[in-house]
Amino acid sequence: MKMSNTHNRFVYALWSPVYDIVLERFFASGRRDAMQAARLCDGETVCLVGIGTGADLRYLRPGIRATGIDLSEAMLAKARRKLPVHGCEVDLRVGDAQALPFEDGSFDVVFLNLVLSVVPDPALCFAEAVRVVRPGGRLVVFDKFLTDEAQPSLLRRAANVIATRLGTDINRRLTDMLAGQDCAVASDQPSLLGGMYRVLVLKRG
Ligand SMILES: C[S@@+](CC[C@H](N)C(=O)[O-])C[C@H]1O[C@@H](n2cnc3c(N)ncnc32)[C@H](O)[C@@H]1O
Repeated sequence: MKMSNTHNRFVYALWSPVYDIVLERFFASGRRDAMQAARLCDGETVCLVGIGTGADLRYLRPGIRATGIDLSEAMLAKARRKLPVHGCEVDLRVGDAQALPFEDGSFDVVFLNLVLSVVPDPALCFAEAVRVVRPGGRLVVFDKFLTDEAQPSLLRRAANVIATRLGTDINRRLTDMLAGQDCAVASDQPSLLGGMYRVLVLKRG
């Protein structure tokens, strides 16, 4: 099944009441690693793309100005309940990660946590993230990917039929998204499920 915004709006409205309860413990260590890898500094501007229920907000340090954007009003409503975040300015808004409503170079850091595996067009989402981060700024990615050389096994393809219905694609390659983008991998660490999930920091040229 191909992901679509219509499906994502529907499925994440269903996820919203239980997302934190069901998944937060599982994602916690990877999420913490991603937020630490960003090495946020006082006064930096941060964009959290596909912020969902705002599980990343607790890792922001005081002095950060954060903007969170998500397609799902239901997920954002959960994020709003996590405000205020001590010492941070946080703006939450509905929008599409594939057409970010921000000027070029608006942010010091852009987070793509668990969203490249979800949006219909991950290459476009990544290109948008690169566009809105300033030259020399960082992009932080925490997500699951296929390794470059691997073809998805029959089992994995079958599992993906269910996964996509639940709102995520387990068979995407990061290299397909990075192709042609003006950014370089600064760090790449294996994370959950034996490295199926990864935490990367990329620097925009
Ligand atoms: C798996 S959740 C991850 C949420 C959050 N980033 C986290 O780390 O917990 C994926 C999120 O992406 C959002 N999403 C899906 N398609 C989107 C799109 N086209 N634009 C923006 N957000 C989208 C969903 O509504 C959902 O909140």
